[in-house]
Amino acid sequence: MRNISLILKQFSRSVLLVAGLAVCGFNAHAQADAAKGEALFKAKCTACHKIDVRMTGPALGPQLTQETDDAYLTKWIQNNQALIAAKNPKALKIYNEFNQAGMTVFSELSDADVGNIITYVRTEWKKMQDEKAKAPAGGSAAAEDQGPSSVIIWGLLGVIVIAFIVILVLNKVIATLERLLLNKGGVALIEESEDDEAAKAKANRAEVFKKLIKNKKLVFFVVLCGTIALGSWQWVTMWNTNVHQGYQPVQPIKYSHELHAGAMKIECQYCHVAAFKGKNASIPSLNICMNCHKSVKTESPEIHKIYDALGYDPNTAKYDSTKAKPIQWVRIHNLPDLAYFNHSQHVKVGGIKCQTCHGQVQEMKEVYQYSPLTMKWCIQCHRRTEVNGKGNAYYDSILAAHDKIKKGEKVTAAVLGGIECAKCHY
Ligand code: HEC
Ligand code: HEC
Ligand code: HEC
Ligand code: HEC
Ligand code: HEC
Ligand code: HEC
Repeated sequence: MRNISLILKQFSRSVLLVAGLAVCGFNAHAQADAAKGEALFKAKCTACHKIDVRMTGPALGPQLTQETDDAYLTKWIQNNQALIAAKNPKALKIYNEFNQAGMTVFSELSDADVGNIITYVRTEWKKMQDEKAKAPAGGSAAAEDQGPSSVIIWGLLGVIVIAFIVILVLNKVIATLERLLLNKGGVALIEESEDDEAAKAKANRAEVFKKLIKNKKLVFFVVLCGTIALGSWQWVTMWNTNVHQGYQPVQPIKYSHELHAGAMKIECQYCHVAAFKGKNASIPSLNICMNCHKSVKTESPEIHKIYDALGYDPNTAKYDSTKAKPIQWVRIHNLPDLAYFNHSQHVKVGGIKCQTCHGQVQEMKEVYQYSPLTMKWCIQCHRRTEVNGKGNAYYDSILAAHDKIKKGEKVTAAVLGGIECAKCHY
């Protein structure tokens, strides 16, 4: 009997061991896959795809999670043209959905390569979603520090109200107890007639009120509560003074970023030319709009506003500058003059996406101020964002200057960027 149980024990142990090893091996395998997939994805796909947002092609995270037929996906990635030519319904559907943009053919990728890419995209997308689920609701990192949260304030008010009720109840209890004590001590309460009782009750109430006012502890408590409530209200108001987060004025022309930058995928810098070059991103001149609207939607009253502003006559196709009156776009983002902000330093040197600070503009029908634009907002990002100094002309020049200084060579202010226009000009 003992032998059998020993054998059984040994057997179950080795089964566990094998299972454990298998799990580890599988994990290691999956990791290797994802790492190889990441390299391939970055080299071949990022020109047109991102994992989480739609670019030239669909956002691959959700796309590869919805579409689970890996055999089809492999065929698509290796040669989507063949699938389209063969009139595969899935392939045709996505091809038409993207206005027949056409994806590159990747016949050089093996089945294993494609598998690795798919594994990488799916795990990465899952990670992103897990992180999103963990992040507090409301989303934007910018919104996270807005003075004391409303939860705290409501909590405080709740505590105050409850404390007040407790005090009232306690007072009542004490009064009752006192009466009982008096009764016990033999001071009989004299029976009164009904009328008398009403008058007495009234007098009693006045009495109670007087007593309450005389109760120093209670008065102190009420004043304290009042001060705290007023103080927190003032605190919140002051924190939000001059913060225009969410500001969304009505613009003179119903121009939509959702249509132009989103659906039509016009690059931000096609219109905001200067964002990569200088301090201001700049609002485009109407001539840029005319590149298309000379012939697009010529009948629309909104487009006629552009024509009127330029003094353009669509019938004769001639401009009359005497009739021109510029469009008054309402400025949304506006730092006070005491703060200096430079777009090119952030967008070009820092490599920060417009959306990090301005939100998903390409999904906005009307632009609104997404970030608070407070000093705290600037500082927090500066504390957290790592600078990428590799392959960056700005840092190359600083490193070169640094080397020169080390060697004791002459360095001019110009070498440190002192003749760039934006260093001196607003
Ligand atoms: C030149 C741009 C471009 C590149 C590079 C590119 N794609 Fe695409 N991809 C697209 C476009 C555009 C679509 C939408 C369909 C269409 O218009 O052909 C698409 C669609 C897809 C789809 C959706 C297919 C479906 O039916 O759900 C997948 C998956 C995909 N791409 C994967 C990849 C992978 C993986 C790579 C890198 C190996 C890659 N793409 C590289 C442009 C590109
Ligand atoms: C076809 C031209 C065009 C394109 C493309 C375009 N914009 Fe604009 N943008 C405008 C015009 C015109 C305004 C002024 C009217 C308004 O606020 O909607 C503007 C306003 C803005 C504002 C608000 C400026 C202010 O007053 O503070 C921001 C921010 C902005 N754009 C960001 C972007 C980003 C980010 C993209 C790319 C995703 C983009 N834009 C693409 C034309 C364009
Ligand atoms: C690259 C070409 C292009 C540029 C540049 C462009 N648009 Fe458009 N815009 C279009 C197209 C195409 C449509 C029409 C889409 C449709 O058919 O509904 C459109 C639609 C519009 C509409 C809606 C008209 C209506 O009545 O439906 C407005 C308003 C508009 N554009 C304003 C502007 C302004 C202002 C600018 C310059 C800041 C601008 N567009 C720059 C291509 C362009
Ligand atoms: C690091 C944050 C940040 C990034 C990244 C950023 N912006 Fe801005 N943007 C701002 C701030 C702050 C202002 C207000 C500037 C001021 O009032 O001086 C602003 C203002 C603007 C304006 C109003 C006009 C102007 O130039 O002041 C436009 C248009 C604009 N941004 C577009 C863009 C575009 C397009 C991109 C991407 C190419 C971009 N921004 C990237 C923070 C940012
Ligand atoms: C999304 C993050 C982010 C936000 C928000 C942001 N910055 Fe920056 N900022 C950076 C990064 C990253 C750099 C460094 C870029 C580089 O030189 O590589 C930088 C650099 C700068 C510099 C140049 C510093 C130097 O040493 O030359 C100034 C000035 C600046 N930011 C001002 C501002 C102001 C003002 C605001 C708020 C209105 C702001 N920034 C908001 C990320 C941010
Ligand atoms: C080292 C600081 C510095 C740099 C760098 C610099 N400027 Fe200037 N700039 C000035 C000063 C100071 C003035 C005012 C001079 C005066 O009023 O006599 C000025 C004046 C100007 C004016 C005349 C403005 C007017 O209203 O009279 C223009 C235009 C100008 N600069 C353009 C530029 C351009 C373009 C660049 C980049 C190629 C540049 N600046 C680089 C400091 C600088």
